[in-house]
Amino acid sequence: MAGSYSKAMDEIYGHKLAEIGDKIPSRHFGYYPPEQPEVSIPEAQERYIRHITRHIKKGSYILDLGCAFGETAVWLVENLDCRVLGIDIVNAQIEQAKAFAKKKGLEGRLEYQTLDACKMDFPENTFDYIVSLGVLVHVPEKDKVFKNAFKSLKTGGGIAFSDPIMGEKCSWIAKQIATQITFNVSYMKKVSEYKTLMQEVGFENIETEDVTEISWIKTWELSKKEKYNTVLEPFKYENYFWAKPAFLNMAWIFAKPCLKKRSWGWYFFWAEKK
Ligand SMILES: C[S@@+](CC[C@H](N)C(=O)[O-])C[C@H]1O[C@@H](n2cnc3c(N)ncnc32)[C@H](O)[C@@H]1O
Repeated sequence: MAGSYSKAMDEIYGHKLAEIGDKIPSRHFGYYPPEQPEVSIPEAQERYIRHITRHIKKGSYILDLGCAFGETAVWLVENLDCRVLGIDIVNAQIEQAKAFAKKKGLEGRLEYQTLDACKMDFPENTFDYIVSLGVLVHVPEKDKVFKNAFKSLKTGGGIAFSDPIMGEKCSWIAKQIATQITFNVSYMKKVSEYKTLMQEVGFENIETEDVTEISWIKTWELSKKEKYNTVLEPFKYENYFWAKPAFLNMAWIFAKPCLKKRSWGWYFFWAEKK
């Protein structure tokens, strides 16, 4: 199982960008809360990171779990003056992240390791915070991840993550679509299941935010208008059959009603180690 899982991750994420520009293309949705002004998709993607990391204090030491090319890690260094350790199960991503850190002259502030989060074993009181954006949905043994995450955090620290979630009721069609985006639909958890997993290892003050409408749906509707250019940017150099505007248009016809009904959705989570 572990072998086929890491192989699947390699197949999905084991590519490198053909060229490293000055900015890594973002895989995040934008964040469009009604009370904030409408901005471009790239600005809203940056706002997404800013919002989810809002509890993080400047100058902290952070674990970026499932860091990929290092977009979030670099953002934390440049904007919050943090030091970051990024881990990812896919070695090609880590190599790319290291090359990008070198290009930006950030090697002293950023470290990267190829590591499966299910096998992480960081000592007690290592990190001030942990961030993990769009990763845990892929991970089979989430209990192990939360256990070591809690142990490795300092008291007063916390974990911030964002992920697709399974709704309380999920139709057959929604499960089929979810399987395509999550590799194994049984890894997709309900919000209540995430809360239980976190509480069981000791996390407190758990906050959740349903951003299905104001991140996923909104970004997708805006992307449609620009032929999905922004959301396809990180996939520009890959040959995924689905990374084409025509396919995404068709998938959206089925996906949007599932999201509207919350057969699945997208959530932000925050939890503290008191
Ligand atoms: C959707 S990407 C998100 C990447 C990045 N966090 C971001 O926000 O752009 C999911 C990432 O999780 C990584 N991943 C999946 N399972 C993992 C595991 N068990 N341990 C560490 N990384 C994992 C994948 O290799 C991939 O880079």
